[in-house]
Amino acid sequence: MKFFIDSVDIEAIKKFTLSGMVDGVTTNPSIIAKSGRDFKEVIREICSIVPGPVSAEVTATKASQMIEEGEVLSKLAKNVTVKVPLTWDGLEACKRLADQNIMVNVTLCFSAQQALLAAKAGAAFISPFIGRLDDLGEDGMDLIKDIRAIYDNYSNLKTEILAASIRTPDHVRRAAILGADVSTLPPTVLEELAIHPLTDKGLKAFLDDWEKTGQNII
Ligand code: E4P
Repeated sequence: MKFFIDSVDIEAIKKFTLSGMVDGVTTNPSIIAKSGRDFKEVIREICSIVPGPVSAEVTATKASQMIEEGEVLSKLAKNVTVKVPLTWDGLEACKRLADQNIMVNVTLCFSAQQALLAAKAGAAFISPFIGRLDDLGEDGMDLIKDIRAIYDNYSNLKTEILAASIRTPDHVRRAAILGADVSTLPPTVLEELAIHPLTDKGLKAFLDDWEKTGQNII
């Protein structure tokens, strides 16, 4: 499974790159607004650190304007993936950008049939929002399961399933079991993935015993 960082936190992106955990980055207008950073500048900066796909979202709602914005964003760096919403305008923009060999991430997906449309429009990635479905009392993972089953039925569909709105380590575990291609993670969730109390307890015991030996490795 690939991991994308769902953030423009440059320090976090650099930190997790050191351990080989960053296969790409996703952003959205809310993340940009919260960061206070200039959109194009931060996308360029992230693309200079991460060679994998970096999603930058259009903000127009009409297909023709989405395409214009997508063309501008795609010129920021060669690894920019243009993100469009799952509307009919977004699907048209997806098709026309994909026809220009621009990678497109179709976002705000909440049903398997929406995911089927995105794949037919040539999306490189479909972003089902797990946490937001959970917020409504549904099990967001059912959507990953359905999309995986549908895509696996048709070998001509090449779209990757990018599990988004991931809130917990357990979301990552379940998305991986169900065969999502990518999870996009806030840095806090990625941080938590390595943590287990028995690891900490076991390490403490090993180090205490090692100290008793009075030895050094170096
Ligand atoms: C994905 O591309 C989105 O940026 C993100 O995962 C949305 O997550 P949220 O529902 O926690 O805002």
